[in-house]
Amino acid sequence: MDNFTFHNPTKLIFGKDTLSSIKEEIPRFGKRVLLVYGGGSIKRNGIYERTLRYLADIGAEVTELSGIEPNPRLSSVHKGVELCHKHNINFILAIGGGSVIDATKAIAAGSHYDGDVWDIITKKAEAKSALPFGTVLTLAATGSEMNPGSVITNWETKEKIGWGAPCVYPQFSILDPTHTISVPKNQTIYGIVDMMSHALEHYFSASPNTPYNERMVESLLKTVMEISPTILADLENYEARETLLFCGTMALNGVINQGMNGDWATHGIEHAVSAVYDIPHGGGLAIIFPNWIRFNLDKTAPKMKQLAIRVFDVDPADKSDREIAEEGLERLRAFWKEIGAPSRLADYNIDDSQLEIMAQKATPSETVGRFVKCTQADVKEILRMSL
Ligand code: NZQ
Ligand code: ZN
Repeated sequence: MDNFTFHNPTKLIFGKDTLSSIKEEIPRFGKRVLLVYGGGSIKRNGIYERTLRYLADIGAEVTELSGIEPNPRLSSVHKGVELCHKHNINFILAIGGGSVIDATKAIAAGSHYDGDVWDIITKKAEAKSALPFGTVLTLAATGSEMNPGSVITNWETKEKIGWGAPCVYPQFSILDPTHTISVPKNQTIYGIVDMMSHALEHYFSASPNTPYNERMVESLLKTVMEISPTILADLENYEARETLLFCGTMALNGVINQGMNGDWATHGIEHAVSAVYDIPHGGGLAIIFPNWIRFNLDKTAPKMKQLAIRVFDVDPADKSDREIAEEGLERLRAFWKEIGAPSRLADYNIDDSQLEIMAQKATPSETVGRFVKCTQADVKEILRMSL
C-alpha cells in the first residue's frame, strides 16, 4: 500500500426521516442561512417545503440561490459568493445532487477569499478556509456529499475543472433514501455509471499490495450491478435506493481506496468532453471508460482479468489472460448498455470536429492518469475510438 492519512470529518446522517436533523445541526453555526438548490426538483418532491418549515422552527433567516445547473457554472458560484457577502451568511445548506454540492463548495471557499474564486478552482490560489456548509443529498452518484472535491465549469472559456481542499468537506450530509425516489431513470443510470467508474478508477492503481482494497472495490461493483436492474424496473424500490445511495457515498469518500491511488484519466477526459458539449457526467463515462481500458489493454489486462473473474463471472478455463480480460471488458460494456447507458459519443451528436481541443483540455500537463500515463495523442485516439 502507499502511505496514507485518512481523515474524513463529514458527519454522515443516513436513513429515513432524517431531514429534521438540520434543526440540531445548523444552529451550531449561525442563523443566516444560504439555501442552494437546482432547477426545481426539490419543489416537486416536497423536500423544499419541509426544509423551509424546519428552518423556520429554528428561526433561521434564509436567503435562496436556485437554478444551479447540472455541470455547475462559475457564473452561479459568483452569484452565491455575492449573496454570502451581501447577507452576511454564516452557513450554507446545499440540497441536490453533485452539481449543487460542488457549486456550494466553491461558494463556501470563494466567500472566504479576496480575489475571484476561479483562482482557487484553477489552483492559482489555495482555499485555506471556507464558510461551513451541510448537504441534503437527493441523487446517488458523485460522492461529493462526503469528500472535499468539486468540479466547476467556466462556460465562457469552455473549461471544466476539478479542485479540492480540506476546508470544503461538508460539516454534515443527510442521506434519506426516500429523497432519491423521484430521480428519473436517466439520472439514475448516470449515477450508477458514475459510482461504478469511481470504483474502477481506484481499481486501476499501481499501488502495491492492496488485496483488501481491491476486494472492497469489487464488492461495491458487484452490489451496484446486482441492485441496478431492480431499481430500473421499479424506481420506487426503497431498499434498492437505500443500497445505491450508500454505495455512491462509499465509492468516493476515501474509505475503499485508502493507500491505493487510482488512475483518474477517464474522469479527466470526460470533464474535457463535458466542458465542450455539456453532456451528463455519467453518460460520458459510460462511453469513455471501456475505450480507455481497451486502448491501454497492455497495462490494464492483469487488473481487468481479475475483475473479469471476480466481478463479471468470466470462466477462465482454457483462455489466455488477455482473452479473459477482453471478455470482462465486453461484459462491462454489455452491462452498461443493458441498463440503458450511452455507448458512443454519437449518442450525444458528437462528431470528430473537436477531438483535438478535447484532447488538449484533458491533458493540461503532458500526460493524464497515474496508472497509465496517457499523452494528448493517446487521449485523441481514445476519443476517436469512442465516436
Ligand atoms: O436541478 P434539479 O431540478 O434539482 O434536477 C437535477 C438535475 O437536473 C436532477 N435531480 C437531482 N436530484 C433529484 C433530481 N430529479 C428528481 N429527483 C431528485 N431527487 O438530476 C439532474 C442532475 O443533477 P446533478 O447534480 O448534475 O447530478 P450528479 O449528482 O450526477 O452531479 C454531476 C456533477 O458532479 C460532478 C460532475 O462532473 C457533474 O458536474 N462530479 C463531482 C464529483 C465530486 N465532487 O466528488 C466527482 C464526480 O466524479 C463528478 O465529476
Ligand atoms: Zn465521477
